[in-house]
Amino acid sequence: QPDPRPEEETVRCDIEDGVAWVYFNRPDKRNCMSPKLNRQMMRVIEDLEFRDDVQVLVLTGEGVAWSAGMDLLEYFRMNEEKGIGAIRQSQREAYGWWERLRWYEKPTVAMVNGWCFGGGYGPLFACDLAFCAQSAQFGLSEINWAILPGGGASKVAAELLSFRKAMYHAMMGENLTGEQAAEWGLVNECLPDDKLKARVQEVCDSLKKKDTNALRATKWAIRRVREMTYDNAEDYLVRAQEALNDFGGKQSRKEATRQFLDEKSYKPGLGAFDK
Ligand code: ACO
Repeated sequence: QPDPRPEEETVRCDIEDGVAWVYFNRPDKRNCMSPKLNRQMMRVIEDLEFRDDVQVLVLTGEGVAWSAGMDLLEYFRMNEEKGIGAIRQSQREAYGWWERLRWYEKPTVAMVNGWCFGGGYGPLFACDLAFCAQSAQFGLSEINWAILPGGGASKVAAELLSFRKAMYHAMMGENLTGEQAAEWGLVNECLPDDKLKARVQEVCDSLKKKDTNALRATKWAIRRVREMTYDNAEDYLVRAQEALNDFGGKQSRKEATRQFLDEKSYKPGLGAFDK
């Protein structure tokens, strides 16, 4: 039976002190992504993107899962019954919010509290940073039910893992523990379950102290240059910095330089200037 829960309840969001904690909120369905959840997630993240009281977005899951990937009933089976139009629409809704998140205006952090499968790799890669619990498990389980890792999942594996590891991960359908996921580079760090939130909070607090415009330019730069030649990257970065100058970058830099050189109140090598 399809999930009777209203669309608005498939995502939960708490805003606390500049951080938006966004939850996949279908814990009894291991937070798998249904068309309803995908539509609601787009609404929620769009709403948060330009709010003054949000500086960092954290994406996490309610209950024991981060996300068990795409909903095999509502995303796959029910759409296949409806036909190609419904399939394409659902793909656009899912891929749409992941893309929006990849190029989000604000820094994003995946806090992977539990299961992370298949389609979940899309939002995982879309987040700039990722931290997981020791009890989390990561899998490209597609091969276990006779499909290929679509929806970007193959691309994410190939981007984040070495060739051999990506192949093994995709072909074998075995899960990685949280610690392995950190060793393999799927996430930045793996933490004991009871330390995960505190560590993510610490990272958010640090991000909040950085210059907002410089952070946005930086995260976009790191994503863009991955696909550029060295020369094109160099040129892009010159232009991105010049664009940043028009976003208050010149004044911020002037002030930071003043605090270091004249006031001697901070050292850029040791932390952010006082904005
Ligand atoms: N799609 C649809 N329903 C799901 C999904 C999913 N991806 N994952 C979990 N559920 C549902 C289960 O059917 C079950 O529903 P029910 O209570 O109505 O019977 C409920 O969520 C709880 O799931 P359980 O399997 O009972 O939970 P358990 O904690 O034992 O196992 C696990 C968790 C390992 C995540 C298991 O649910 C699972 O293997 N899920 C599928 C993971 C997967 O392969 N996802 C697809 C990846 S490929 C892709 O995304 C394209």
